[in-house]
Amino acid sequence: MQFDNFWYVVAQSEHLKARQVLSRQVLGEWLAIFRGRDGQPVALQDRCIHRNSRLSYGKVHQGGLTCPYHGWVYNECGQVVSVPSEGGQFQHCDRLRAKYYYTCEQDGYIYVCLAEQPDTQFPPFPMPFYQAQNWHTVRVIHRFQNDVTNCAENFIDIPHTTSVHPGIFRNSYGQKLEMTVTRKQGTVVAEYRNETTNLGWWQRFLNPRSVKFYHSDRFYMPNITSVEYKFGINRHLFITSQSVPETDSSTLVYTDVTFDYGIWSWLATPFVWWTAKRIIGQDVQILKIQQEVIAKYGRRFSHTPADTIHVFVESIRDTLAKGEDPRLLPEKTVEVTFWA
Ligand code: FES
Ligand SMILES: [Fe+2]
Repeated sequence: MQFDNFWYVVAQSEHLKARQVLSRQVLGEWLAIFRGRDGQPVALQDRCIHRNSRLSYGKVHQGGLTCPYHGWVYNECGQVVSVPSEGGQFQHCDRLRAKYYYTCEQDGYIYVCLAEQPDTQFPPFPMPFYQAQNWHTVRVIHRFQNDVTNCAENFIDIPHTTSVHPGIFRNSYGQKLEMTVTRKQGTVVAEYRNETTNLGWWQRFLNPRSVKFYHSDRFYMPNITSVEYKFGINRHLFITSQSVPETDSSTLVYTDVTFDYGIWSWLATPFVWWTAKRIIGQDVQILKIQQEVIAKYGRRFSHTPADTIHVFVESIRDTLAKGEDPRLLPEKTVEVTFWA
């Protein structure tokens, strides 16, 4: 099993119009993404097989992608269908074909799989409650100068929130919290108990009476994190992030904040967007600093019990990096007490 067995987001569906080409990078591979004649997304290696120009600088006409250098035209299967310098005598031949990858579209995202043949065991991750009745989604994109492992860990890490997002997200109250962390089948689930307060500037709206609420953080291999909060009725949200590896030190993160706040949902939307941009912007900064140190001194971490969730995520991602199946790692559950 490899990282390229999985589907990775390359764009929001609405951002890829007919006649548009997007340039993307996934796991170091350069991609030119456009829509073919039938409107389906197409992903070609961003390299013209003629004299190696970049196809993403080209133009789309009637579902074909024209190279900007000598005008060779590629169809949705990557086949060359026109060579202007050959005029009408150009004969299509199978040998003339750009490398192409499987694509699909789901929940308003376009996905690419870099494997020769996508594995049906690993479909794209279904985004929780996307376009479900009464649910709203705010979708934001950020580029992190760090790898997927460190991004995913950050998105499900409570201890940093009091120092990186003070006031907005949490303050340091020294409150004793408990969590159960389980690694199972390539996923990590952390369920928290005893949380009643400390939700930053959303506290009064989400949990005005400071009652106990449900909170879980989840990681799904290879690159998904999903945070869930539920406060009584009509206050339920998910923050789901897909961390897409561009290179070893650049990750494009697509985040959905999907919420059901009852009658307040519409009104809350701009505030949710602003809060997400503010909080994730702070994480972009702190992860940039972390990557600078890793680049200089290498990745050497020290752990305490509060880091159990990260140790499990790293074990799954390190197993995948070795080409092995993380679902074969032994199932483990750990009870952790920590303070925030
Ligand atoms: S390099 Fe693309 S057509 Fe020549
Ligand atoms: Fe954060």
